[in-house]
Amino acid sequence: KLPYAEPFRIKMVEEIYPSTREQRETWLKNAHYNLFNLKSSQVFIDLLTDSGTGAMSDKQWAEIMTGDESYAGSRSFDQLQKRVEQITGFQHLLPTHQGRAAENVLFSALVKEGDVVPGNSHFDTTKGHIEFRKAHAVDCTIDEAFDIENLHPFKGNIDLHKLESVYLSHSKENIPFCLITITCNTSGGQPVSLENIKAVKKLSDQYGIPVIFDSARFAENAYFIKTREKGQSERSIKEICKEMFSYGMGMTMSSKKDGLVNIGGFIALNNEEVFKKAANFTIIYEGFITYGGMAGRDMAALAQGLDEATEFDYLHSRISQVELLGNQLIELGVPVQKPIGGHAVFVDALKFLPNVKREEFPAQTLAIELYKEAGIRGVEIGTILADRDPETRENRYPKLELLRLAIPRRTYTDNHIHYIATALKNVFDRRDEITKGYHITWESEILRHFTVQLEKA
Ligand code: F0G
Repeated sequence: KLPYAEPFRIKMVEEIYPSTREQRETWLKNAHYNLFNLKSSQVFIDLLTDSGTGAMSDKQWAEIMTGDESYAGSRSFDQLQKRVEQITGFQHLLPTHQGRAAENVLFSALVKEGDVVPGNSHFDTTKGHIEFRKAHAVDCTIDEAFDIENLHPFKGNIDLHKLESVYLSHSKENIPFCLITITCNTSGGQPVSLENIKAVKKLSDQYGIPVIFDSARFAENAYFIKTREKGQSERSIKEICKEMFSYGMGMTMSSKKDGLVNIGGFIALNNEEVFKKAANFTIIYEGFITYGGMAGRDMAALAQGLDEATEFDYLHSRISQVELLGNQLIELGVPVQKPIGGHAVFVDALKFLPNVKREEFPAQTLAIELYKEAGIRGVEIGTILADRDPETRENRYPKLELLRLAIPRRTYTDNHIHYIATALKNVFDRRDEITKGYHITWESEILRHFTVQLEKA
């Protein structure tokens, strides 16, 4: 048997910048200990997000040269529409400039004050767009998702009892749709099984509620279905995608993830009435319906990217690299969310830094320590991100306090992965010395995560 190797080679490289610990200490202080304030040149390996940070292929770059920039009826739109229909089965397409714009347009058409939107741990912007309309997002994720040691293969699944109790306690008029996020970013890049999607569809049909997919990482979800779910191993990724989407009325997409492009998004639907309603909002917020905030060339590159992202060999190399980091950390004894998710490794900061008080932000403290150690930038998924309770203004402490290390697609080598694992091991070895975290000196009313300022406790 031969060892596994990436199904691509590298044609263009970009310099990244090593630095000294001394430099990093100064930069951190100037950044008020908020890693969003660092310049990219001050970061050696950037694991802040897998969104819009991947590498395009030569075929995608070729599409950039031949894109059609017509305001209306662009050939590149047709190319994208055909590809989306081929992969998802949805014939109506509305491009948008990114995923949250797709949410804004679709929810403008479907969500009103007082509504509830059940789903599996809605992403922040998704929840934001629901709450902004004075509606509520109800988290129906299975309980297993909140126990990092639980090896359930589909920790993004929806608990049907939780979902049904939402359907029973609200009238149909107040539940515009059920939202399934594939994969579920908030619970750790964890997948949803085909069986669960089917069951959610069946239950929702009984109550007359449509299903919408938040599809940012839909191809990674299909990979997990193929490799983990009984009876699915012989099917192609594209067949599985087609079946997944056949259970929905439509989807929102952040193309910055499984579209393999640096910017873009879209809505795709099989319901003409909803499409027509949403199209008006596209024109108001995004642009004419055949470009919706995207350049023609970017739509063409996206059409190609969607094809590449739904190929098994690509997905195997991508997800194996994330798994490589996860497995190295597990071997070193570092506490991480298991099983390893599709796009990132999530480190349990409460277990990693038990000496740092909850009110001094252990996950942020760990993110800072890792940056100091090796110039690696991760992101806090914990109390700072969770914001204050809008009524009491108290900190909201989530069940888990995590450091997310998101891996950009086709961007770093396995050597970078070894470097990251070693750096985190070095921090782990001196974890007993880390006893103090950080205090907030300034924060904004909402979404404080991005702009918060901190000082050493
Ligand atoms: N839905 C999910 C599941 C996401 O993870 C994101 C973005 C969005 C919607 C919004 O898409 O950024 O194109 O507007 N997630 C990024 C992240 C920002 O880092 O996880 P967008």
